[in-house]
Amino acid sequence: MEINFKEISPRERYKLLSSTVIPRPIALVSSTGPDGVDNAAPYSFFNVFSEDPPLVILGLQNKEDGSSKDTARNILDTGEFVVNLIDRQMAEAMNNCAVDFPPEVSEFDVTGLNRAPCKMIDVKRIAEAPVALECRQTFTIKLNRNRDICLGEVVYMHVRDDIIDAKTRRINIENYEIVARLFADYYAGITDPFALQRIDMPEWYDQWLKN
Ligand SMILES: Cc1cc2nc3c(=O)[nH]c(=O)nc-3n(C[C@H](O)[C@H](O)[C@H](O)COP(=O)(O)O)c2cc1C
Repeated sequence: MEINFKEISPRERYKLLSSTVIPRPIALVSSTGPDGVDNAAPYSFFNVFSEDPPLVILGLQNKEDGSSKDTARNILDTGEFVVNLIDRQMAEAMNNCAVDFPPEVSEFDVTGLNRAPCKMIDVKRIAEAPVALECRQTFTIKLNRNRDICLGEVVYMHVRDDIIDAKTRRINIENYEIVARLFADYYAGITDPFALQRIDMPEWYDQWLKN
């Protein structure tokens, strides 16, 4: 099948892209709203893009009337947010955070997720999150009336002690039950990691000669 993206609707593009570019990590983004309301919402148009500067990117879609979601508005207002990564135990709470609650309702209160303080920014992180990245907005691009792209710099990381070795900074993958988004209502954990050794050009040539 060949698909010309200029000939299909945005909805079809969404379905095709979001169901083929998988799994996508989920940022359960916490931010501070007007009157200090602690907001949390999941975003799977998310990833990390560089380490110097350490950048994350969020794809924030506006509501149907063109108004910003709470997360987008809070980031624009305060310039700060936390990317909380989620594990299997948090999956249902994450899903409940996607309910379109009014801005004055805190998803922490309705889901039972606990607040924890941040070190560098004035936002609450999620205490249960295995990893939380404190971020400062670098800039937000208003692509069109439907979509903002937010770039944020990671300024501080909280990570559960059993996940990263303090000396080597290596991950203990068995303890990190991270959940990613597949498509529609489907999610996945990491169940069959495998390794491939990186090789350089001489090694590749040796292997090629042997075959
Ligand atoms: C797993 C998951 C991933 C989502 N990813 C996105 C996303 O990348 N961009 C987006 O605009 N909305 C996404 N949503 C929908 C928002 O979470 C939802 O609109 C939420 O109510 C926004 O909350 P807020 O107004 O507090 O920011 C996602 C929902 C779920 C369940």
